[in-house]
Amino acid sequence: MWKKRIGYEKEGRRINLQFEGGEGWIEIVNPWVIHVFAPLHTQEPESRAVEPNALAFEECEYRVSEREGHLEIATEQLTVRAYDHFYVDVYDASGTPLCLDHRGERNPFQRRGNTSIAEDEGHTAMKTSNKHTIEVLKSMEGEEKFYGLGDKTGPLNKKGYEYEMWNTDDPSPHVESHKALYKSIPFFITLKERAAYGLFFDNPFKTFFDLGKENSDYYYFGADGGNLDYYFIHGPSVKDVVIRYTALTGRTPLPQLWTLGAHQSRWSYAPESRVLEIAEKFREHDLPLDAIHLDIDYMDGYRVFTWDNERFPDPVALSARLQDMGIRLITIIDPGVKKDQGYAVYDEGLEKGYFATDTDGITYVNKVWPGDSVYPDFSDEPVRKWWASLQKTMLDTGVAGIWNDMNEPASFNGPLPDDVQFKNDGRPTDHREIHNVYGHLMSKATFDGLLQTTGKRPFVITRAVYAGTQKYSTVWTGDNQSFWEHLRMSIPQLTNLGLSGFAFSGCDVGGFSHDATPELLVRWVQVGAFSPLFRNHTAIGTRDQEPWAYDEDTLNAYRQAMKLRYRILPYLYDLMREAEQTGLAPMRPLVLEYPEDSAVHELDDQFLFGSQLLVAPIVEQGKRNRAVYLPEGTWIDDRTGEKIEGGKTIVAEAPLDVCPIYVRAGTLLPAYPDRRYVGERKIEELLLYVYPGDGEYTHFEDDGESYDYRDGGYNEYKFSQQHQNGQLKVKLEHVHAGYNEGYTHIRTVVHGFTAKSATLDGQPIEFESEEGNTAIVVPASGGELILTL
Ligand code: NOJ
Repeated sequence: MWKKRIGYEKEGRRINLQFEGGEGWIEIVNPWVIHVFAPLHTQEPESRAVEPNALAFEECEYRVSEREGHLEIATEQLTVRAYDHFYVDVYDASGTPLCLDHRGERNPFQRRGNTSIAEDEGHTAMKTSNKHTIEVLKSMEGEEKFYGLGDKTGPLNKKGYEYEMWNTDDPSPHVESHKALYKSIPFFITLKERAAYGLFFDNPFKTFFDLGKENSDYYYFGADGGNLDYYFIHGPSVKDVVIRYTALTGRTPLPQLWTLGAHQSRWSYAPESRVLEIAEKFREHDLPLDAIHLDIDYMDGYRVFTWDNERFPDPVALSARLQDMGIRLITIIDPGVKKDQGYAVYDEGLEKGYFATDTDGITYVNKVWPGDSVYPDFSDEPVRKWWASLQKTMLDTGVAGIWNDMNEPASFNGPLPDDVQFKNDGRPTDHREIHNVYGHLMSKATFDGLLQTTGKRPFVITRAVYAGTQKYSTVWTGDNQSFWEHLRMSIPQLTNLGLSGFAFSGCDVGGFSHDATPELLVRWVQVGAFSPLFRNHTAIGTRDQEPWAYDEDTLNAYRQAMKLRYRILPYLYDLMREAEQTGLAPMRPLVLEYPEDSAVHELDDQFLFGSQLLVAPIVEQGKRNRAVYLPEGTWIDDRTGEKIEGGKTIVAEAPLDVCPIYVRAGTLLPAYPDRRYVGERKIEELLLYVYPGDGEYTHFEDDGESYDYRDGGYNEYKFSQQHQNGQLKVKLEHVHAGYNEGYTHIRTVVHGFTAKSATLDGQPIEFESEEGNTAIVVPASGGELILTL
């Protein structure tokens, strides 16, 4: 289409390019990030993911020069060459090629035979993806690995797979043949031996990704609508790519601390006596719990923003009663509004023209839980404001968070037709352009509503997302099943979500559909304990999935995993703070921290929790040991205290109640004493577990719910340690004091170190040595501890 390049001009951070067949531009976002655009649909990009004031945009110098056969654009970090046919090649500053356009057409492998015979038996015939009106082919050298794309099925490394971005509610067991699930995050990271880079195809239409499946000479992304609109994001490390991608699309804000506690759910806990019974049982069995979720049956006939008066006669009293037990209530809100005259939400929306319509302007109707339902047009600001204001109805009854479901949007009477009309903030468009951002915009409206009403950090969970939804909402991976395969797959799903900017994510612990066996539940909770969002949730009609519904061993192992999670909540909170500042997620694939180690490039049955803990869960029935790869460095087996040199595979023993965990030597790990819920009692004394070695750590403390920390209302501590010749120096520094109700003391517990003497700032200090550990209590103002053997 583009043909010969005929001219260019500089316009601010853009270099406009003229071709015989059309025009486009390259924008310098910052020295590492460039934006390639052609106005095939709208004159200017109208991104729902990238806000104009995104952190990524930096003023920077660049040079443009006409060269033999191409235009060269150079920043401090990148050299970009633009050729005829709008081919774009990117090199690093030293001239090493990073990402080159593939010259030539797609050339897929051949599929043989007439597949209709197989279809007669019920098989789905494999088909090669059609030619798309937008296609960008990039050369492959063969060594590339691909990560990201949200929570797609399949392994961590997506090489050799194809996917689609079209938010899809498909409850059939999620397996590798599912090209699309509920989320559309058209961003992936390519890791080559030399360097990593990211590509973000910011096109909300249905998009297609083939990562070297149809031909090993190239990979491609494409669409049949929208603009040519993509960002190249240089690393060179995988971490740098994630940091830069989230500077562009936004980062997960620090959540309220209680949201990191345990959540319990089922479709559906009702009536309210059952909800209270669940809450009481948690307390009776000494199981930590911070939230109970109410699924669709709390509503009156599935009308959103209503309560069923019979089953839930007094929601205010219910939430107050739960609050007394330290448990918050979360309610589900779906987008589908029941078509029902006399129902206030429907009447008001209809009167004000807030619902999507057909091409004649008649409100479009499809079917979800309430039967005939209409779809709020979240693409329009007045509708988002209205929806935000409706949240107050729920919050006024004491609800503490909102769970947004079915917002792909789901529809039971066939898919929404392409031509369903949306107002789209003043530029009307149709379903093809809004579908993938529908859940994103609904989450934004919900977030805004919670913020307006409560002033606290909003807690929203959503199923459907687009790139950037991480700014508004946490996510879960939708309707998994109580299958070992799904437990196994949750690790690449959640770690890839993390690499795609979604730091706060989880899956239904125990599995949603199907009946979980006791062993599966235990192994699942051992993984769930380390996923940022922990929610045990199961479908209507499945067996009870609360831990006491099984046997004593299950209950004990479950409790043990949850207690561990609650003990290390301050670590998880610090990781969420890190996520807000850098975009790096708590749950990490090893490749994020050790990209040079090719042994970890495909590792997806173990993961890192932050950079300090390595978690190697059991994900197969009956297994009581497993191979664990420890990357370079010294690791400490958390259970036995054994020190192990990394760079090798070991065999870990894992009886049912054990999930193998390894701590990096040099770790300083903050912990809290046992609590049944966040805020049960004030933490006067922070526990600081020290695993001797060299290391440093930043710890954050605040009120755990307000935005005061953004105005300095927090405490920050810098902990560091040096280990040499039998002497351990631990420095505890209180570097920012802005929260007056913080800890008074820090109890430092040094693992595997029986001190003979200890001083604090040169003065002898009391210490206890037991079971090979040394414990010393220090005022929270800190000081320098010196321990000698
Ligand atoms: C589908 C959701 O994925 C699931 O979590 C929920 O329980 C059901 N809808 C019913 O609301």
